[in-house]
Amino acid sequence: MSVTLVPSLPTRPVSAPAPAPSRPLDVLGVPGEINLDYAASAPCARAAADAVAELLPWYASVHRGAGALSRRCTLAYERARQTVGDFFGARADDHVIFTRNTTDALNLLARAVPAGTTVVTFAGEHHANLLPWPRGSVRLPVPTDPAEAVRALAAALTELRRDSNAALPVLVAVTGASNVTGERWPVAELARVAHRHGARIVLDAAQLAPHVPVDVLALDVDYLAVSGHKLYAPFGAGVLVGRADWLDAAAPYLAGGGATSHVGPATHDVTWVTGPARHEGGTPNLLGAVALAAVCEALAGADRAALAATEQELLGRLRAGIAALPHVVELRTFGPDAPRVGIVSFVVAGWDSAEVAARLAVDHRIGVRDGLFCAHPLARRLLTEAAGRTGRRDLPPTALRASIGLGSTSAQVDRLLAALATLG
Ligand SMILES: Cc1ncc(COP(=O)(O)O)c(C=O)c1O
Repeated sequence: MSVTLVPSLPTRPVSAPAPAPSRPLDVLGVPGEINLDYAASAPCARAAADAVAELLPWYASVHRGAGALSRRCTLAYERARQTVGDFFGARADDHVIFTRNTTDALNLLARAVPAGTTVVTFAGEHHANLLPWPRGSVRLPVPTDPAEAVRALAAALTELRRDSNAALPVLVAVTGASNVTGERWPVAELARVAHRHGARIVLDAAQLAPHVPVDVLALDVDYLAVSGHKLYAPFGAGVLVGRADWLDAAAPYLAGGGATSHVGPATHDVTWVTGPARHEGGTPNLLGAVALAAVCEALAGADRAALAATEQELLGRLRAGIAALPHVVELRTFGPDAPRVGIVSFVVAGWDSAEVAARLAVDHRIGVRDGLFCAHPLARRLLTEAAGRTGRRDLPPTALRASIGLGSTSAQVDRLLAALATLG
């Protein structure tokens, strides 16, 4: 992973941050308000809030000042890069580029792919992983199970390699977990298939990373995109981790200060730096990066297996409760037992989903999401599938989504189920 070193650090360090104490993994919230909308934006981890509060008195410019405050902020920013890269298993020569969010990270990569690259996605993706890709991208149908996804990708790549210049790059873009159903995608298998066909793969880990460890090396993915605000770290940072070559060869994503090593008098007399700074033009989001790093550190020190087990227990309770309500129908792409993270989408027969969401909010102080979840092709397909599976003609055209994570409780799940029961 390339890290921009801080130039000429003072011989007497400027209150270099002490090794981070292990921070608790609790999340902030408002008593009485039941937040079951983690998949949209997760609550703020105390670790993130504390890290930001500690740094705020020092807040100053990053990579732009010789003063003590500025040097400390520069150090904090680059340490955050290192921490986040380590957390996601970045290879030594990967770039770790701070972005605004997953959408921004995938748009950055879309601009950096070499000319002539074909991007292959599935129609089940979030819009952030459907819309940025260049014209000529291939969109595979939503598979009915993970094995079919692997087979479909292998077939598509075989065909693509047969029909087109084998030297042209191919990038497979796939989610780790669906933001609609929470179902997990077979990322490592898809990566194996991609590489067997000489393609690269980018993992949209926006919904996977908050729930289970994600490691680019272990999964053997070439790029990874994540949003801090879904990973308990608000303050607006995301990250793109991945192979340096395309990124260093591409035009800067954000042309401006910090991305150049030389600007001459002529209009186009510019030398762009390589490394993460090439795509991070302008003053970076220090607090976002520090918040994200603090959560990564806290999660790295936590028993993730235990956290995941707790979440799965709650998820089982929620899904079983929904299954027991005859007027509530769960949406799913794969089979009912497919592995999934703490996200469930459903419809209440005979009820408009927006109205249900509003009633949950007003009458029960429960926050959920309604709509098509920025995954319109998938959500519409699953609504049609649900109508076919149940034979019901009174399902609404949009859905509801409940999502859980750190700090969620069985009492909250039960409150949602009780509220839904009143709509029967
Ligand atoms: C799977 C997935 N990918 C990408 C995104 C986009 O994330 P952001 O809005 O943080 O850019 C989302 C957001 O819901 C998502 O669920």
